[in-house]
Amino acid sequence: MDRLGNRIEHIHHPSADAGDDHDEFQDYDEGVEIEEEEVVEEIGEQELLALLDQQQDSLEICRGLFFSQNPDGLIPSGQTLSTLSEGAAQGLYRNGLVVIDGFFTDAPTISQAHQLAADLVATGRFVEASTIRQDDDPFRDRKARDDWILWLHANDELASQPPLKPLVQKFEDLRADLGKIIRLSGETEYQYGFYRGTGGHYDRHRDSFPNDDPSDTEQRRVTAICYLNPASWEPAHGGELRIHRKGAEREIAPVGGRLVLFLSGVVDHEVCPSFQDRVAITAWYK
Ligand code: OGA
Ligand code: MN
Repeated sequence: MDRLGNRIEHIHHPSADAGDDHDEFQDYDEGVEIEEEEVVEEIGEQELLALLDQQQDSLEICRGLFFSQNPDGLIPSGQTLSTLSEGAAQGLYRNGLVVIDGFFTDAPTISQAHQLAADLVATGRFVEASTIRQDDDPFRDRKARDDWILWLHANDELASQPPLKPLVQKFEDLRADLGKIIRLSGETEYQYGFYRGTGGHYDRHRDSFPNDDPSDTEQRRVTAICYLNPASWEPAHGGELRIHRKGAEREIAPVGGRLVLFLSGVVDHEVCPSFQDRVAITAWYK
């Protein structure tokens, strides 16, 4: 998001607030150029998104990324999807978000991936996400998020062996399916994320601006989060993913094996304070 900057620029005409005695035609007659003064106003990300949403619904914009605008014909004839059901594809198109329980079913892999994240945090392999890119963005609010992260690449040593290999493979299969229905062009970003069970949270945000420009290969288009927690996640553990959309809220518990799939430019979301160590792999398809 910071790549685009939270800026609204508008042109301020000094003549507009000139006193009564000022005759702007006079300046014109005398050949004096009226200079336009540029005023740059910093506004918050949420404010900017709200302004954009007022102009055009973000879901409407991002639906333009789909090859077909017919929800019953999203999958081209002759093509089959390997891991995404047609119903889930339709949910993504219609609502901008779909929750798929049991996306990943191998419980031992999930529990090993949970333990591995904790071990890698303990040995200093994860970084505190809030400290990243402080140099380019000194105004970033460091209190917005408490997660610790590790960027993964499909061919990394870590991602090429258990327990992460089958998980990354599943995300790659999902990428192949999504690529049949949505214009995807860039590389996938993978984040291994850990929130400490001491109340770790992430403030409300959106993963990208709404955009349907097929030539923009940098823009995150689809967010896929697979939770790597125990299958029994109790309400007292908190850590829900809270979705905000058009004034409504919905909370999704980070149950192990569950996948939350949404259009990155559409859905505002936050991570509620977590009282158990909370692990996920997130893929951003671009
Ligand atoms: C993120 C994010 C949500 C989650 O990393 O951008 O919103 O449920 N994560 O982990
Ligand atoms: Mn996010």
